[in-house]
Amino acid sequence: MLKGIRQRTIASYMLLFFIFSVFTLLLFMGIIHIFTALLAGFWATVFTAWIIDKRVIAPVEQITSVAQEMAGGILDNEITIEADEALDDLAWSINYMARELRKNLFCITEERNRAQAILNSMADGVIALDKYRRVILLNPAVKDVFGLKENEGLGMDLIKVIRNYELDDLFSQALHNQKTIVSNELQILTPEPRFFRVHVSPLKGINGEIIGVVGLLRDITERRKLERMRTEFVANVSHELRTPLTSINGFLETLLDGAIEDPKTARHFLEIMNAETKRLANLIDDLLQLSRLEDRKTVLNKQPVDLRDVINGTIQMFKARAEEKGIKLFTVLPDKLPQVPGDHGLLTQVMVNLIDNAIKYTPASGQVKVGVNLNREKVRVYVADTGIGIPQEDLPRIFERFYRVDKARSRVMGGTGLGLAICKHIVEVHGGQIEVESGPGGSTFSFTLPLTS
Ligand SMILES: Nc1ncnc2c1ncn2[C@@H]1O[C@H](COP(=O)(O)OP(=O)(O)O)[C@@H](O)[C@H]1O
Ligand SMILES: [Mg+2]
Repeated sequence: MLKGIRQRTIASYMLLFFIFSVFTLLLFMGIIHIFTALLAGFWATVFTAWIIDKRVIAPVEQITSVAQEMAGGILDNEITIEADEALDDLAWSINYMARELRKNLFCITEERNRAQAILNSMADGVIALDKYRRVILLNPAVKDVFGLKENEGLGMDLIKVIRNYELDDLFSQALHNQKTIVSNELQILTPEPRFFRVHVSPLKGINGEIIGVVGLLRDITERRKLERMRTEFVANVSHELRTPLTSINGFLETLLDGAIEDPKTARHFLEIMNAETKRLANLIDDLLQLSRLEDRKTVLNKQPVDLRDVINGTIQMFKARAEEKGIKLFTVLPDKLPQVPGDHGLLTQVMVNLIDNAIKYTPASGQVKVGVNLNREKVRVYVADTGIGIPQEDLPRIFERFYRVDKARSRVMGGTGLGLAICKHIVEVHGGQIEVESGPGGSTFSFTLPLTS
């Protein structure tokens, strides 16, 4: 376009030159004056051309170049020219248009960034499709679930992106029936099984026409897991409570049926009932404690605790039982043991349960070693036995409530199956971790405690 203007300008210069020359020629009316006339004509032409260039060509060139920049999206440059009125008006209008465009663009960008920030920080997944069921939006939560990269999937059919027919079907139904659809519980297998509740609603344009669908995926995996754990827990508790109760009930009925007349049998039955009642009480105590720990209602009475005291105190409690069973129970403690911030009573309870288990599950002539390792940040307390060990497949679940390798054996030994779960909670409320290693040669339970709170 600029080239066109230039060509036209050159043509007009030549025309002007010709007119001025003829005019001057006529003015002087003589051949000898031709040269002078040509010279005057030349200068007059140059001057006029300069004026035209300054007032018309240069402004038009600048207007053209700024307009071209605007078309390319650069709105920062304004036209600064001195020109005649018409061009000045044009330049002002273009500058005004650029300013308005800049303002609108800023508002649109702000709006888009805000919407993007909301989508990015949503815990729920968002999928939007156009009316041809091609993906137009996937937020980071969805990309995480399906393991998609930055712009992966955009513009593609939903099924090719997520490969889940049930989900694809929900979107199709919402689009087809033009109404919101809510799924019950959708299992999505990639990359690991997760459960979602999905809401899919039609997307409406400004005039109310359907332009696509948007789906909200709420991850309910954790909630489902908790619900399952709660149901299992209630079933376990009922079972654990019913077993001693059934036994007590059975002996009571036998006593009432006449066994009470035989003092020897009656005493034996009463002793069993007494033991079962104690088991029931233990179970209820453990359950209450576990529930308090889980609710974090147990406010930690954190004070400097001397672990040597805790360990030696517990060893004293079990000394007689260990000797009776022919088990060597001993400690390996460092000379200097710093105090740890904690609750003396709760830490004693952890030691009691670990040493009790070690003695329970170690046959005669075995040994149980209790020791402490130290580093700058934490202490590690361990209880190592030479007992029956725990099969590898049971290790990951050993700290779960009521999990026992051998239920019958644990019950016979008076266990509730809650001891290790309680230990885990106590250690965790102290900011530590509990773990277990086990093999055919025995088991080692250990827990850490931070040296500072
Ligand atoms: N030192 C150990 N050696 C072998 N098995 C153990 C040991 N400590 C715990 N266990 C296993 O872990 C289970 C859970 O322990 P715990 O929660 O203390 O319950 P409980 O002692 O009441 O049976 C036990 O039933 C037992 O199977
Ligand atoms: Mg126990």
